[in-house]
Amino acid sequence: MEKKGQNKDGTFLQHPFFLIIVLAFGFVMMDPFQLGPVGGLQFRPVKHDIAPYKEVMGNWPRDNKSRLGDGKLEFVDEVYGPESLEFDSLGRGPYAGLADGRIVRWMGEDIGWETFAIVTSNWSEKLCARGADSTTAKQWKHEKWCGRPLGLRFNKESGDLYIADAYYGLLMVGPDGGLATPLATHVEGKRILFANDLDIHRNGSIFFTDTSKKYNRVNHFFILLEGEATGRLLRYDPPTKTTHIVLDGLAFPNGVQFSMDQTFLVFTETTNCRLMKYWLEGPKSGTVELVAHLPGFPDNVRINDRGQFWVAIDCCRTPAQEVLTHNPWMRSLYFRLPFRMSVLARIIGMRMYTVISLFNEKGEILEVLEDPSGVVMKLVSEVREIQGKLWIGTVAHNHIATLPYP
Ligand SMILES: *[C@@H]1O[C@H](CO)[C@@H](O)[C@H](O)[C@H]1NC(C)=O
Ligand SMILES: *[C@@H]1O[C@H](CO)[C@@H](O)[C@H](O)[C@H]1NC(C)=O
Ligand SMILES: *[C@@H]1O[C@H](CO)[C@@H](O)[C@H](O)[C@H]1NC(C)=O
Repeated sequence: MEKKGQNKDGTFLQHPFFLIIVLAFGFVMMDPFQLGPVGGLQFRPVKHDIAPYKEVMGNWPRDNKSRLGDGKLEFVDEVYGPESLEFDSLGRGPYAGLADGRIVRWMGEDIGWETFAIVTSNWSEKLCARGADSTTAKQWKHEKWCGRPLGLRFNKESGDLYIADAYYGLLMVGPDGGLATPLATHVEGKRILFANDLDIHRNGSIFFTDTSKKYNRVNHFFILLEGEATGRLLRYDPPTKTTHIVLDGLAFPNGVQFSMDQTFLVFTETTNCRLMKYWLEGPKSGTVELVAHLPGFPDNVRINDRGQFWVAIDCCRTPAQEVLTHNPWMRSLYFRLPFRMSVLARIIGMRMYTVISLFNEKGEILEVLEDPSGVVMKLVSEVREIQGKLWIGTVAHNHIATLPYP
């Protein structure tokens, strides 16, 4: 019997069709020529904690009027990937962090856009100021050098601007701008790899996200694909100039925002498509809880003057994505196929468009605005509601979108 079995295995492998399959499988696993998107990286997919597709999508309200489609694109090709938008205490702005490493501000029709700050003395016009090209795939070689300011927040009392830069950590620049001063580049002796967003506590401490210990911004897509959870929420205390780990083991922590009374903060966990809450005061102090599951991948979250939270979401989750999420080995295989990432993403039905959503403190959905055809807005990163108007940033396009609201 045993002998027969061995023979059978032997014959099985000798069949040319199966042999080819096995070889192809092995080839894909090893990706010897590093043709696939993960070629050359230590790509190790893991299971992660994402809510069931049907449960989330089945209950998610749709904007049947596609109201985001009524938005207006402003400053087209004048700003490059303005991820975060901010206004100073004099009401000037928007200020925006750009893909070319600069923080710029809008000074009205007469003056236009001016450079307000840079995050490193490495910055040079020649190397970094690549205009519209700085949002394209070409910039990855330079952004490590030029900086990539992502999160911006003014301290309204001092007028200082705090910056979370994907390469240079947490920085601050005074009200007159110029070269920003690094505040936190390391935590517990190790370099902060991917600072992403921040908010300022009334006692002066800065809470900020560090998206991953493994991948930097250029490789951020692999954080999503791998499901790795090495992200953190950090705190910088100005009196002692020290940085502390508040939360560890997060899956792509991204936007961060204090509640109105600062008893808690909310943050987005992009890989797990959800909005979370971290309690700073009261009986639940120090604990984390879910605020809401989201239909897609959230970026920044910003409060309005009614204490509600606007979340920018790149939509939507797909059923195929869920299968891959629960089966890390499939991702390991799939993303080693020698095709470009955009092709692989399209095959599993990833069709990115934009949803923005407003939540109250309890996580109830108050508002959903979308642009399902992606005509006006794609890949939004932040929504600021200011005096009857939404200002909408995008990390990947060269404009700022606006929309009258409510
Ligand atoms: C759109 O949604 C509103 C409110 O949810 C509903 O009353 C209306 O019937 C919907 N219209 C269409 C065309 O589905
Ligand atoms: C300049 O960029 C390099 C490469 O990213 C970095 O190692 C170095 O610290 C930067 N220098 C300054 C002054 O920021
Ligand atoms: C500010 O408050 C936060 C939240 O309670 C706390 O973690 C932090 O240590 C405080 N910072 C200072 C400088 O007291």
